[in-house]
Amino acid sequence: MCRQEVSGIYDQAFANLSNSSSWRVANRSAFRQLIKGMEQRTQRLRLREMCVEDLPALIATITDPRQVRFIEFEPTESSAQALLDWSRKAAQESPRTAYSFAIILTGEDGMTDDRMIGTCSLVVRDPANRTGSLGILLDRRYHHRGLAVEAGQAGVRFGFEVLGLHRLTAGCAAQNLASARLMERLGMRREGHLIASHWQKGVWHDWLLYALLEQEWRERG
Ligand SMILES: CC(C)(COP(=O)(O)OP(=O)(O)OC[C@H]1O[C@@H](n2cnc3c(N)ncnc32)[C@H](O)[C@@H]1OP(=O)(O)O)[C@@H](O)C(=O)NCCC(=O)NCCS
Repeated sequence: MCRQEVSGIYDQAFANLSNSSSWRVANRSAFRQLIKGMEQRTQRLRLREMCVEDLPALIATITDPRQVRFIEFEPTESSAQALLDWSRKAAQESPRTAYSFAIILTGEDGMTDDRMIGTCSLVVRDPANRTGSLGILLDRRYHHRGLAVEAGQAGVRFGFEVLGLHRLTAGCAAQNLASARLMERLGMRREGHLIASHWQKGVWHDWLLYALLEQEWRERG
């Protein structure tokens, strides 16, 4: 099991939200009850804070060039280390604006070997407008099983229910068909198609912008 400073996470999230004018949280113990869901569970997955023990799995995922073809990472061990460092640093920051969850596959019995199969990140980009972004990366061996949708749904719920976001965005290269379809499956609306706006791996890419409002998400149930 990873060592997680759960209490520290609660305190940090409490500080973030109690500073927000859009949130009214009566007291710390009520808040701890409210966000017991900081560690997310779905039918087949568990999403927990990323930790140093995740590095080998992260390296295995990121060093496959097919995995990072349309995203900013290079397929190197140092990219994996940088992502882990960023995630660990974000967890210590105050106010905290970034959450990078390790996606863990659970067995049919609900048990897990705690091995990470991907990451699900939420970043509060614009606190004043309660806007954040979502990003998902899944090891290739686990693609096409609906696991990214399942992890994404947990991420969306975390963004709206725990972080109190009003608007969640996501972006991907127009050629990244898997990502675009994933955003649509998460109920996000395509709000823009930017022409040749992102320079990645030596090529200009068109970029698709997606967004979902908290109200829309709640109305859909
Ligand atoms: C994007 C990614 C997470 C999707 O993972 P996945 O496990 O294949 O996704 P799911 O199985 O949950 O499927 C989601 C939807 O995308 C579709 N999809 C998956 N791969 C696809 C592909 N290569 N082309 C077109 N559609 C694809 C699935 O069919 C499904 O749609 P459907 O339910 O209508 O059939 C995965 O491809 C990945 O990690 N890519 C590299 C990192 C990346 O680009 N991340 C996105 C940046 S936010």
